[in-house]
Amino acid sequence: MKTIDDIDFIAKNVLIRCDYNVPIEDKILTDEEDDKIEFSLETIRLILEKQAKFVLLVSHLGRPGGKFNENFSMEPVRKRLEEYLGLDVKLMKSLVEIKAVQEDPTIELALLENIRFWKEEEVSDENFAKKITEGFDVYVNNAFSVSHRDHASLTKFPKFCPEKCAGKLLAKEIENLNIVKDNPQKPAIAVIGGSKIETKLPVIENLAKDYDFVLVGGRTANEALDQKIDFSENVLLPVDFSPKERIKDRLDIGEKTRKMFIDKIKQAQTIVWNGPLGMFEEEECALGTKEIAEAIKSNSGAFKLAGGGETITALNYFADIKDFNYVSMSGGAMLDFLAGKELPGIQALQ
Ligand code: 3PG
Repeated sequence: MKTIDDIDFIAKNVLIRCDYNVPIEDKILTDEEDDKIEFSLETIRLILEKQAKFVLLVSHLGRPGGKFNENFSMEPVRKRLEEYLGLDVKLMKSLVEIKAVQEDPTIELALLENIRFWKEEEVSDENFAKKITEGFDVYVNNAFSVSHRDHASLTKFPKFCPEKCAGKLLAKEIENLNIVKDNPQKPAIAVIGGSKIETKLPVIENLAKDYDFVLVGGRTANEALDQKIDFSENVLLPVDFSPKERIKDRLDIGEKTRKMFIDKIKQAQTIVWNGPLGMFEEEECALGTKEIAEAIKSNSGAFKLAGGGETITALNYFADIKDFNYVSMSGGAMLDFLAGKELPGIQALQ
């Protein structure tokens, strides 16, 4: 897979697939939640420095269902990009506009409206991909976090550009996820919590093959207990719950479980964390996630990787991004990668 260091960008039209799926409320983007935008800047700046002629940024935002919806407009992202880069960023609302700006020497950077406003995106339509990528010389994928989707902008765009490569953020995600996936330093421990057991089961089962322990909490553990899933012996489920007054609701892991999990975390050389251990937003149900986050934080010798939206929120409550060797911006894509699945967006770059 090529990276941007392998490409000559001089006088070329470049299309960068970014992930700007950030929380927007009332058309406003909050300051704290724009990491995905900030982390994309390195790649954009480098490509402009390498004298590209024109750069088009493409991303989805939310799930507008293939039609225009003002609440999912890229306008707040465009504004934030302008602030960060100190450059004009034009918002392209139609495919015709893209063609016009490609020929305009005064415009070097533009952002396409939400790619999911076009119904062809999610069905991975080839003709649509061909039309959008016309006139582009290089396709860059900087959106690892959505590369588990077979969508046109991820798997068809690269087919129609003469050159394709990985952006800096995507390359960093793969590099760090590979550290924990292939030959992790032992003892290796994974902490898997949160909800959506169907997305967590393949990761738990795959990591359990090689990891010393997989510690499972949150709704995933509750559902695994209800379904009486027969895991291998190194997959540890909660043995008690808290708070005491609401034990039957299983809102958080209990004291014995916390001790059992923390004991494993203390000895680990590799720690992967995805998903909170309980309903940490409620103070009385936060102890499990808090103590696990603190235990991970205080193991200074281990390689520590966390990922997923909810995990990052929990981590910001009880620790700091700086306490980890790497914090991935991806949720579903990270889980699929660690489950050993091929990601279509990455395959398309080969
Ligand atoms: C994410 O935020 O996890 C990615 O942007 C993927 O979004 P999606 O689940 O709507 O495809």
